[in-house]
Amino acid sequence: MNDRSVKILGIESSCDDTAAAVFSNYTMLSSVIAGQKVHEDYGGVVPELASRAHQQNIVPVVDVALQKAGIKKEELDAIAFTRGPGLMGSLLVGVSFAKALGMALNIPLIEINHMQAHVLAHFIETQGEPYNAPSFPFLCLTVSGGHTQIVLVKSHLEMEVLGQTMDDAAGEAFDKAAKIMGLPYPGGPLVDKYAQAGDTKAFSFPIPKAPELNFSFSGIKTSFLYLVRDGVKANPDFINVNRDNLCASFQHAIISILLDKLQQASQQTGIKGIAIAGGVSANTGLRKELNTLAIKRGWKIHIPKMAYCTDNAAMIAVTGYYKFLKKEFTSVDVVPTARYSL
Ligand code: KG4
Ligand code: ZN
Repeated sequence: MNDRSVKILGIESSCDDTAAAVFSNYTMLSSVIAGQKVHEDYGGVVPELASRAHQQNIVPVVDVALQKAGIKKEELDAIAFTRGPGLMGSLLVGVSFAKALGMALNIPLIEINHMQAHVLAHFIETQGEPYNAPSFPFLCLTVSGGHTQIVLVKSHLEMEVLGQTMDDAAGEAFDKAAKIMGLPYPGGPLVDKYAQAGDTKAFSFPIPKAPELNFSFSGIKTSFLYLVRDGVKANPDFINVNRDNLCASFQHAIISILLDKLQQASQQTGIKGIAIAGGVSANTGLRKELNTLAIKRGWKIHIPKMAYCTDNAAMIAVTGYYKFLKKEFTSVDVVPTARYSL
């Protein structure tokens, strides 16, 4: 076995997606995700329901990932799994499954930090497509349902958080705004969709005062809540009539906060290699405004493929590969951790 042919199974179960992927030869042989529709009506992920669904999905998802990769489980060299951060009950399913399979096959386990994996999604090659991985050091804005961070990425495994949210995450703000408008969970993709037909200047929101490179989204969320509440009081049809403008204005406000801090981070560090990652990096408005800003600032930007923005196991497997090269293996008494800093 040489380093290139190492076969790593990645397992992800930190929130509401059960995912498995097989990585070898710098490419993903398979990447399978089972989402959970059960949370749609609740406006957010219900932890108890999420763990039950993971328990049902984990075996078939791993089976399909191996089948699609065209390999037998006995051919695997290691198992990489999300140890945290995430929901404890959800993480326990993936961690326990990884341990059991690792012991049965007598192969090493590799624990993965989910936030590090979001960043390393930029190092997944796709056969037949040009490989455009960022060069070190670069800055990564990681924006998901649980986190919002600006990360200084020094190497594959060396990362430093320069700033982060002090309250809600950017994705959470999208989801809460959607819930206020009566849209199902996850609301981010729907806000994105409706925003495309709306006016970004129709409504304005207060600019949060978060120190240095940190973020705050709770004020803007509350302001959105009052705007909608007062609007509905005056006109019961307010949301229907204004849906697209509400989405466009709210989305633009979030993007402005994100890009403003990203500009500050680039100025402070002198780094012009800029990446985005995490579920919110799928947002078409963010992608567009980042492209425009990159031209103005002379940035080299890196935007992940849609499939690798939201939670997936391909990013877990590729991170596992870099840890495998350094022999950063994990003992079988490992336990999940709901909080896990980079
Ligand atoms: O990274 P991710 O899949 O899971 C976490 O680690 O949290 O991110 C999920 C978050 C959700 O809040 C979802 O609403 C948001 O990403 N999201 C989006 C879009 N697609 C997903 N937010 C805005 N626009 C999108 N297109
Ligand atoms: Zn995530």
